[in-house]
Amino acid sequence: MRANLVLLPGDGIGPEIVAEAEKVLKFIASEHGHEFDITTGEIGGCAIDAYGDPLPEKTLEPCRNADGILLGAVGGPKWDDPNAKTRPEVGLLKIRKELGLFANLRPIKPYAALIDASPLKKHIIEGVDILFVRELTGGIYFGDSRSWEENGETVATNEMTYRTSEIERVVRVAAKAAQTRNKHLTSVDKANVLEVSRLWRKTAENVVKKDFSDLKYDVVLVDAMAMHLISRPRDFDVVVTGNLFGDILTDEGSMLPGSLGLLPSASLGEDGPGLYEPIHGSAPDIAGKGIANPLATILAAAMMLRHSLNLIEEADRIEAAVESVLNAGHRTADIAAGGKSLGTVEMGEKVLEALKG
Ligand code: NAD
Ligand code: IPM
Ligand code: MN
Repeated sequence: MRANLVLLPGDGIGPEIVAEAEKVLKFIASEHGHEFDITTGEIGGCAIDAYGDPLPEKTLEPCRNADGILLGAVGGPKWDDPNAKTRPEVGLLKIRKELGLFANLRPIKPYAALIDASPLKKHIIEGVDILFVRELTGGIYFGDSRSWEENGETVATNEMTYRTSEIERVVRVAAKAAQTRNKHLTSVDKANVLEVSRLWRKTAENVVKKDFSDLKYDVVLVDAMAMHLISRPRDFDVVVTGNLFGDILTDEGSMLPGSLGLLPSASLGEDGPGLYEPIHGSAPDIAGKGIANPLATILAAAMMLRHSLNLIEEADRIEAAVESVLNAGHRTADIAAGGKSLGTVEMGEKVLEALKG
């Protein structure tokens, strides 16, 4: 098949990890007779430096026409001045909004070979297989915000807003996913305190009652979920939640497999291209050292093949290669648990070797 793919490496470790995923995509194309037309664009801090804009039209336009987009990460201390005109993260939020990518799938499935890389006990993480569905284009990330002076001090506010239609569509995505998995859907909110969460809870329940009565359905408050996620993670299948809660819970969830550097994600809309990225950030503390774990990004590339290009066999093949590399004992520093570790490029090479068989 022919496909237009856009790579947006971004900042920090972004270019290092996307380079490894690109090698994997090129290998898959040549092995399976596909033609991937790969172009690269700037987003985040590097785009601010080049164009004064974290998501210039020059970057966005090719994305609109792409079949899939693979992003590294944006941000870093260079652009962290709270008084700056714009920020790298604005570019990421804008591309999600512009492309209508309201459903962010974040699978969490620990690898048997990495049981010891997790800070949690083996009996807690064994058998865990959770799919988080995080709402991505609404909530407090996109509500009105402002700051003002009052009684001699500065006040700032961000509004958390959801409309029924926004909740319905993301709950539907999650419920459909649950139907193909263990038929268990959990909705996470803060309905004991927040009005917006009470709308979330009522709307989610209506959707499930009306169209997904085959599912086991429950609701959990977000503070309790933060605890259940690391005390009884095996009890969850698909978890649907709002933008901010999903952001926080999935970074926490990365400790089940053992590292942020292992978790990929897919951001999907009703139609149009999907955006694929690791859930982690630009890791300024290790950027430029050549030690970042490229596996989350390689797995995000596999999700792109699966969800946007319908290349299921190819996606399975990449995921199996990653698993076999881990089974063979290869580790980057973040999962080495004090043992011997490989650099970013070496880990990428191990995956390519495994793909070659
Ligand atoms: P981070 O996710 O970048 O890093 C958190 C910790 O995890 C760091 O110690 C880092 O070294 C480690 N880590 C992350 N990815 C790794 C990998 N692939 N291999 C090995 N170790 C890895 O979070 P942060 O430090 O809080 O944020 C840094 C910057 O990244 C901020 O500017 C933030 O806004 C941005 N950010 C961007 C995205 C994105 O682009 N999707 C996501 C999260 C954070
Ligand atoms: C993520 C990141 C982003 C988010 C930031 C960088 C805007 O943390 O993709 O998880 O909060 O959505
Ligand atoms: Mn995050």
